[in-house]
This record gives sequence, structure tokens and C-alpha cells, in this order.
Amino acid sequence: MRVSIDAERCQGHGRCFTVAPTVFGFDDLGNGVVLVASPEGEGARLARLAEVNCPEHAITVEA
Ligand code: F3S
Repeated sequence: MRVSIDAERCQGHGRCFTVAPTVFGFDDLGNGVVLVASPEGEGARLARLAEVNCPEHAITVEA
């Protein structure tokens, strides 16, 4: 699995690090950043949940 955030799309809604705090964090502007790019197990499940919950569709999770 490979998790990424498109910084051009991210508007700092924060659902990613709320839903999956073990996978995502935030920068000084409150925009999402990837902490664990290749999560496994529960982290992988939460990464997918964050992907579908980002209002800007900024998160990509590749199998
Ligand atoms: Fe940004 Fe989406 Fe997270 S807008 S802060 S990547 S929920």
C-alpha cells in the first residue's frame, strides 16, 4: 500500500488525521501530511477510510 496527499488539493479539513491519526499528521498550516506511507493492518484500513472522507479528494491510497 502507498498513501499520499496531493498538497495542491488539500485545504486542511483535517478528516485524515482525525480518522487515521496513526497514518496522517498536519503541518504548521494545518494541512494533512502522511506520517506512515505504507501502513499495514488497522492503519491500512483507516487510511482507506480517510481517503473516502477527504472532501477535496486529496488522498490517494494505492494497493
Ligand atoms: Fe487535507 Fe483532506 Fe486531510 S483536505 S487535511 S487531506 S482530510
